[in-house]
Amino acid sequence: MALHLSSACFCTFSRNKIRTVKAVASGQESTVLKTDEEKLKLGGSELKVSRLGIGAWSWGDTSYWNNFDWDDRKMKAAKAAFNASVDCGITLVDTAEVYGSRLALGAESSETLLGRFIKEKKDKNPDIEVNVATKYAALPWRLGRQSVISALKDSLCRLGLSSVDLYQLHWPGVWGNEGYIDGLADAVEQGLVKAVGVCNYSEKRLRDAYNQLQKRGIPLASNQVNYSLIYRLPEENGVKTACEELGITIIAYSPIAQGALTGKYTPDNPPSGPRGRIYTPEFLTKLQPLINRIEEIGQNYNRTPTQVVLNWLIAQENVVPIPGARNAEQATEFAGALGWRLSAEEIDELRSMASEIKPVIGFPVEKF
Ligand SMILES: NC(=O)c1ccc[n+]([C@@H]2O[C@H](COP(=O)([O-])OP(=O)(O)OC[C@H]3O[C@@H](n4cnc5c(N)ncnc54)[C@H](OP(=O)(O)O)[C@@H]3O)[C@@H](O)[C@H]2O)c1
Repeated sequence: MALHLSSACFCTFSRNKIRTVKAVASGQESTVLKTDEEKLKLGGSELKVSRLGIGAWSWGDTSYWNNFDWDDRKMKAAKAAFNASVDCGITLVDTAEVYGSRLALGAESSETLLGRFIKEKKDKNPDIEVNVATKYAALPWRLGRQSVISALKDSLCRLGLSSVDLYQLHWPGVWGNEGYIDGLADAVEQGLVKAVGVCNYSEKRLRDAYNQLQKRGIPLASNQVNYSLIYRLPEENGVKTACEELGITIIAYSPIAQGALTGKYTPDNPPSGPRGRIYTPEFLTKLQPLINRIEEIGQNYNRTPTQVVLNWLIAQENVVPIPGARNAEQATEFAGALGWRLSAEEIDELRSMASEIKPVIGFPVEKF
């Protein structure tokens, strides 16, 4: 069914229907699937989530995003991103207790903001469904399973919820990991979470965590890792293969390389702030041939580069990308990554071209 809209409202909700809508963000048509069938079961858990999520790291943050400054205008844009995402059927939202940490000057908690956005949306439409994923910060002075439950309860308080869908360890601890895994299992048994996962886990840590949870009859649902066309460490370090073997879903963070894969940053127009030190003009120069090819492929499908690189991840079947959106336009563009598929040849060609580019440095914790 094709529905052409010229107004700013281009995502319409319709259960069990496919709608093709004109995305203002890109001038392209975006197909958004709204059916339950379009959802993916997260690992061995019973939790079903949209094939694509949205990341809320930048909401309220002043330590990496927002040019170290958070204000009401940015808050309204983040709220519009949330609303647009949910309206498009992208209902998995990823946050963390450390996003928008009060330790950073002028920051506002991402969890608090998300809780408010959910409440305001639900006040208008009680039927909307949002799957919240949040994370436990394995700080060295936090020890024991009880620390997980106590941090989770603080997160629930900020979110204004009695439970969350997915609770994840944000990174492996320097020590105390067995206690953290027990804490995750306790959280499931206490009905505080539906599913549990880890982030930035190596293959060995992943297998250990899986086995420990299995002894308590609880599946390890997901491993959230840095994964994009130009950052394919999970394909190289055994994590992706282990996830496939054990039935663990990969949640791909930084899936559009923090904007570098969208094509909007060029050697003459690099990103500002901390990202500018990672995605330098030299790096962006080397990236350009790949961006050009992504654009060409996208034109054949009437899709933007952002939609192509997200589709590249979605095509890996066991991967749920969670791109971060700062406004409604960005969130809506993500939805156009769904409802179509790159060919196997295009997937291989893009991987092969991307392998010519030396990846940027990732989050060192994934090598712990
Ligand atoms: N578990 C972990 O350790 C970990 C680590 C990192 C991230 N994460 C999670 O993963 C999520 C996503 O990762 P990320 O935020 O690092 O990177 P990302 O999703 O690759 O990039 C997000 C950034 O790209 C730009 N962008 C978004 N949509 C765009 C569009 N349609 N066109 C052009 N530019 C666009 C925006 O920044 P500008 O508009 O400023 O360019 C946005 O903030 C985070 O929000 C967080 O939830 C988890």
